[in-house]
Parts: sequence; C-alpha cells; structure tokens
Amino acid sequence: MVTSVYPGTFDPITLGHVDIINRASAIFDRVVVGMYATPQKGLLFSTEERMELAQKALKGLPNVEVMPFSGLVVEFAKSVGAAIIVRGLRSGSDFEYEFEMAFMNKRLAPDVDLVCFMTSLEYQFVSSSLLKEVAGLGGNLAGLVPPNVVEAVHHKLGVLDKRA
Ligand code: COA
Repeated sequence: MVTSVYPGTFDPITLGHVDIINRASAIFDRVVVGMYATPQKGLLFSTEERMELAQKALKGLPNVEVMPFSGLVVEFAKSVGAAIIVRGLRSGSDFEYEFEMAFMNKRLAPDVDLVCFMTSLEYQFVSSSLLKEVAGLGGNLAGLVPPNVVEAVHHKLGVLDKRA
C-alpha cells in the first residue's frame, strides 16, 4: 500500500488543492492531507476550521484523510507511513520554492521523496491569499473554492467586519 502526504496550510482549501488531491488519490492507495498547524503566515481560519472545510470538500474521496501536523513535514510523513510528499506546481516561482524545500527534506529524510503535479490550467492563478482578498472586496469565489468554502469565507469575513 503506497501512502502519500500532501502538506499545506489550506487557509482555506481551494479547487486548485482539490484538483491535486483528486489526481494524487487516483495514483496512490492513500493520501493524507497534512494541515500545517503552525505556519508563519497570518491565518483566517483556525486549524480545526481548516480541517473541517477540507474534510467536507473531500468527503467523496474514500482514500483521502485530513490530519493536522506541526513540526517537520518529513517526520509527519514517516508517522503516517508515507515515503512520498505530494505538492502542486503552478509557476516557476512555485518550482523554486519546492526545489529548496525538496533538497532540505531530502537531507533530513533521504527515504522520503517528492512527487509534484502540474496544476490544471484553470487554477494556475489561484492562491488562498488572493481569494481572501477578492472575497473581502466583494468578489465572487464560485468556481475557485468548494461551495462549503465560499460560504465559510463570507461568514468569517462578515464576522470580522462586524468586530471592526
Ligand atoms: N492550486 C491553488 N493554489 C495553490 C496550489 C494549487 N495547486 N498549491 C498551492 N497553492 C497556494 C496556496 O493556496 C497558498 O497560498 P497563500 O500563500 O496565498 O496562502 C500557496 O499556494 C502556498 O501554500 P501551500 O501549498 O499550502 O503551501 P504552504 O507554503 O502554505 O505550506 C508547507 C508549506 C506546509 C508544506 C511547509 O511550510 C512545510 O513543510 N512546513 C512544515 C515544517 C517543515 O518541515 N519545514 C521545513 C521544510 S523544508
């Protein structure tokens, strides 16, 4: 049984992420989506909220599970029995970033390998930050994030607006 790990912040999960997970789930027996609990960037959603949004968006994929992690991704991969890390590539700058992380991860854990998927064309311009900015300015997220995420983003931004 081949297990892979797809780590990320997923704040929130987008259809670009779902596309990569779908394609990974067709190749690997088991895909563990690793929700990084302690990223350095500011977050809109808590770890529990990000987990719930991803679980709901991925519930049609029986060989996919969502788990939180903190610490090194290679240690998380080993802890779930994965020797493969999955990542998506949208552009040359993603490649540079993945390239650096891949070398560091390889040094930390030579037995863990990286498999990158080219993002589908329609999601090449999608990023979680851009989507949050667009939603905050009244733009429509339909077709870019799963339907449950559209609702959650608008709800969260509405709550934050009322507090301001
Ligand atoms: N489609 C659409 N958007 C995508 C995408 C795709 N296929 N792939 C990535 N993105 C976007 C994300 O939405 C995110 O946007 P944002 O920066 O605006 O929020 C951005 O691209 C990158 O996010 P993500 O893929 O979630 O990666 P990340 O940079 O947030 O996460 C980790 C990186 C978690 C993999 C990395 O920090 C890590 O491994 N951390 C654990 C600690 C560790 O081991 N560190 C050493 C690593 S060498």
